[in-house]
Amino acid sequence: MTAQTLSGIKACMFDAYGTLFNVHAPVASVAGRIGEHADDLSRLWRQKQLEYTWLRSLMGQHAEFWQVTGEALDYALAFYGIDDCALRDELMNLYLTLDAYDDAREALAALKAAGFTTGILSNGSPKMLDAAVTSARLAEYLDHVLSIEDIGIYKPDNRVYQMAVDAAGVASASEICFVSANTWDAQAGAVFGFQVARINRFGLKDDNIPGRPKMLLNLLSELPGVLE
Ligand code: LAC
Repeated sequence: MTAQTLSGIKACMFDAYGTLFNVHAPVASVAGRIGEHADDLSRLWRQKQLEYTWLRSLMGQHAEFWQVTGEALDYALAFYGIDDCALRDELMNLYLTLDAYDDAREALAALKAAGFTTGILSNGSPKMLDAAVTSARLAEYLDHVLSIEDIGIYKPDNRVYQMAVDAAGVASASEICFVSANTWDAQAGAVFGFQVARINRFGLKDDNIPGRPKMLLNLLSELPGVLE
């Protein structure tokens, strides 16, 4: 049973990839050239991208999200036997200008109008986030765009979540509504102390790790109505 409202919220901090930006849009837009494995390739690309962030953080081998994203794509293309440099470059370029989900701009605008501090807290490098925010025309609704590059370690390290507390200037993490569609990110944010709303874009159950979101929403546009 999830909460009906989240109270005492001063700021809303959003995960970027998968939450505001559609990470499957690049492959979808060239799916005809990839063929029957296009959706699987997109999922494998995303899964490897995340795995590589976790592994690199544990190994003490940080590299920017742009490099990690490319290395994950190389793995996924090779897995499906695709050797096409032009396609690889095109997919990477498309990743810079990802579509925002339809409900993102409206939700951010409503939160801003209601007086909440807003921001992104993401693994993305500043260059990637800047490009995505600009192409999706979200900049005017965001007070903060926070990249883990400032500290050189990936989510779900607690130092990443602390960046949101510091930037928002709140006394406690519980004054932040952290919004993520990534199960593990939502759960880690809950362990850290945020009040978490998970956006159920992918119809997934919580992972079997500590932490539970307080709220499960289908769309970002539901968010302004449940915050107090
Ligand atoms: C991010 C990844 C986790 O934006 O989606 O941080």
